[in-house]
Amino acid sequence: MSKMRWQWQLPMLCLLIIKPRSLCSEETAESGRFFTEIYKRNLKQIVELRNATIEPCDDFYAHACGNFGHLAAAEEPEDALPPMLYNKQDRMEFFMAQHVNFKTLPGKALSQLYTQCKQRREQHVFRPAPRISHWQRLVHQLPMMAPYEEALSFWPFLPYQWQQLRLDEQLNWVELSAQLAAHGVPTLLHIYFAQETIYVASISNLPCPSLQGFRRSLASVLHGSHPQVSRIVAHEMRVLCRGMRGELPTTTTTESATESQGGGQEQLTLDGNTMDYFQHFFAQLNFTDEMLSEARKLPLDVARIRQAWQVLRYTDPRIIVNYVLWQVQQELRYEDCYVLAQEFERLLHVEYWQWHVFRSQLNRNVAFAMYQLHTTRFQQLRRSKLSRRDWYGYMLPEEVERKELQVARLLQTHAQHYLNLIEHELHYGALELQPRSFYSNLLLLRRAQLRHSFVSPFVDPEDVQQPAYFLRHFLHFVQLVLQRPMYHYYATQGLQLWRQSRLLEDTDGYYTALDCLQRQTEQHYDLELQDIYRPLASHEVDDVFKFYRSFQAALRDYHFWLEGERFHFAEQFVLQFFGLDEHRVLFYAVAQQMCNRQDEIFAAQLNRGYMNLPEFQAAFNCSADAAMNPAAKCMINQCEK
Ligand SMILES: *[C@@H]1O[C@H](CO)[C@@H](O)[C@H](O)[C@H]1NC(C)=O
Ligand SMILES: *[C@@H]1O[C@H](CO)[C@@H](O)[C@H](O)[C@H]1NC(C)=O
Ligand SMILES: *[C@@H]1O[C@H](CO)[C@@H](O)[C@H](O)[C@H]1NC(C)=O
Repeated sequence: MSKMRWQWQLPMLCLLIIKPRSLCSEETAESGRFFTEIYKRNLKQIVELRNATIEPCDDFYAHACGNFGHLAAAEEPEDALPPMLYNKQDRMEFFMAQHVNFKTLPGKALSQLYTQCKQRREQHVFRPAPRISHWQRLVHQLPMMAPYEEALSFWPFLPYQWQQLRLDEQLNWVELSAQLAAHGVPTLLHIYFAQETIYVASISNLPCPSLQGFRRSLASVLHGSHPQVSRIVAHEMRVLCRGMRGELPTTTTTESATESQGGGQEQLTLDGNTMDYFQHFFAQLNFTDEMLSEARKLPLDVARIRQAWQVLRYTDPRIIVNYVLWQVQQELRYEDCYVLAQEFERLLHVEYWQWHVFRSQLNRNVAFAMYQLHTTRFQQLRRSKLSRRDWYGYMLPEEVERKELQVARLLQTHAQHYLNLIEHELHYGALELQPRSFYSNLLLLRRAQLRHSFVSPFVDPEDVQQPAYFLRHFLHFVQLVLQRPMYHYYATQGLQLWRQSRLLEDTDGYYTALDCLQRQTEQHYDLELQDIYRPLASHEVDDVFKFYRSFQAALRDYHFWLEGERFHFAEQFVLQFFGLDEHRVLFYAVAQQMCNRQDEIFAAQLNRGYMNLPEFQAAFNCSADAAMNPAAKCMINQCEK
């Protein structure tokens, strides 16, 4: 019943996507052409990447990716792009093309920031100002650094400079670092929030490059000085960061050891410096006393914080200042301005959710319907697994269970809170972004983001059980369908959905596969076939198995869609033109995402996966004695068949 409904809805949907205003029949031809154009570009790439002299049934990976090296030298930049990056590239291009049309306040703020980021390197044509370095610009623009602008032009500081400039009396490292942290640039301690909760943690992965790395990163500010200077400064900073990371024996080890034995793990004993740090930090964030006193405070990793701050206590403040400023200089480089869109993804999604930039191409309800259709099988299994778990006694709240039924409604409910426009306007409305001042604006926005997180429930968009994950997935989906043929969705995002969900994990299946693949290797491995039947390590079997299961699921989704879809005449025609058909195309689209990345690993994963899939031999009409057609197939779960 439901399938029948889709059958008539789908052709309608397709027409809507192609060209929403093509309501009258005379425009159908044109929309067909547009559709064909998308397919043509994609299929052309598929065909160009492969090496036709190698038979697909002999070594599919070598066949599908055989021409990659050749294509990498192509004139068109997109041709040289590994296909796995298409989706990201598409989203980036969409953002770059559309940000000027953003209409919401958060969207506009992000757009302005992005524009200013790009402008940094532009020179004024008529008034060629002297070129300002990255460091000069930072010092000039950042509010906590501007008062010391003159002194900071001598950074990094050697002892005599530090004394001459009397910085010991002026530049307080605790205050400087706390102010930066309150603007989203933590350097010595990481304080972050979730709804009414304050977490205090050490900085994971405190940056600490090699001496060479430090010196290289200082080259631009130290050019012209004696090489000895950069050696000394780099050495000092390296000793500090290694000490903070606990990589050096300290003279105070015994003291801290007894301390941590005595006190409880969760107690963060505040020394004078940390107290000071907290005071400056919260003063900058301007939280009220109630907010602070009522918040839960959770110190994490107390031993490491204590250890790091003990090192700080015994370190020359000059060196700490050097290191803090070095981190600022490094972190705020923004060589690629698009990272802003990832950093402030929530603002971007608030804008996208309002649909201003999609409206002319795709109606939101149509997008929901499409998303629901394309993820139907996935959502069904997910739901049944969730309820089965419930059955086994892992209690799931009842309302979660019911909400799962309706992806669109689930997303809408989540977005109403998470991407709420009014709330965002309230939080970001008071920002006064300055013209031509990228760094100060960036810090304003980061500070606002930090403040906002204090009143927002914690959301982990990577958690595949949460609506946030699907909301992001949905917005990515919308951008994908505007720029790629539909099979591309199944080959990339759809496959990934299965893979990340771990819904298909199956311990018994894995052990059976381990056994069977080993036997397959023993049977077929010889010099001629060593590329596709080489012995696999157990973690590789795990990868093959996961790949196989998720590919199989994505392929079935794709077939489910094909059945509902009456394939457009134009599409069939285009596919035939390229010597492809709708069954083969997905095998290529998936394989070619792996081209030229660790060939040996992916070749095994892909070939061993495909050869055990009867759909593969059927699609490529492999003969019974073809290398990619072993008589005994592995991983076929009898219960599923
Ligand atoms: C295609 O494969 C054949 C056979 O392995 C090989 O000789 C040829 O160099 C390949 N072509 C390209 C462009 O790599
Ligand atoms: C700090 O907060 C107070 C009260 O919440 C407010 O009146 C004041 O304008 C805020 N100051 C800044 C700089 O945001
Ligand atoms: C498949 O291969 C067989 C022989 O190997 C051939 O007779 C048959 O026509 C092929 N089918 C298709 C659809 O290409």
